[in-house]
Amino acid sequence: MGSTTKVRIAILGSGTGSNAKALCEAAKSSESAFSVALVLTTSSAAGMCGGKGENVDLEVIPASVKGEEFSTKLCSLLEQYRIDVLVLAGFMRLVSTKVLTYMSGHVVNIHPALLPEFGGQGMYGLHVHEAVLASGRTETGATVHVVTEQYDEGAMIGQTKVPVFPEDSPSSLQQRVKETEHKLYPVALNHYIRENFQDIVGSVPIAGISAVS
Ligand code: GRF
Repeated sequence: MGSTTKVRIAILGSGTGSNAKALCEAAKSSESAFSVALVLTTSSAAGMCGGKGENVDLEVIPASVKGEEFSTKLCSLLEQYRIDVLVLAGFMRLVSTKVLTYMSGHVVNIHPALLPEFGGQGMYGLHVHEAVLASGRTETGATVHVVTEQYDEGAMIGQTKVPVFPEDSPSSLQQRVKETEHKLYPVALNHYIRENFQDIVGSVPIAGISAVS
């Protein structure tokens, strides 16, 4: 028997919140190695799950809070909610050294392309898919990776390929990639946790890990 204790994650994003929702759904499974202890956003208008009527807390750090003040506020929430892994899902800014150090490097992100291609500053949202279409690639995908001080760098945790069709527009491609992201993110996160938090989740292999490609 493995331990029944789960790793506590906080999801941070300011987009439409579809990955946050997928992670919250995946966390309900008894096979999940993580529970969502907190959802964090910089925009109350964003579609992030959590808050009133849901069983996960939602905290808003207003978009006007930036730099050192943002990092201090974020670290204090991560401490308050005893977070083990900070999971970015549509967070557009760089994560500061202060936060990375506080989390002992346990910060992960998902990017809507096959990194190391189509990553870096300016590669977000539809810009990524426009660049993929302009390149003539017949394949794109999604990548889950460890976060560093640079955009979209850091060790890869999992990657899934997605076909590009001749009739694709940036938004049709974005939609297809997002559907893949929703499956990849929970699987890759479980894999990361199994590798890094055996003290919490035990050493029993977690179902679904073989799906990481
Ligand atoms: C996703 O495409 C993710 O790869 C990128 O930001 C987007 C967030 O979308 N980092 P959503 O808010 O989860 O729908």
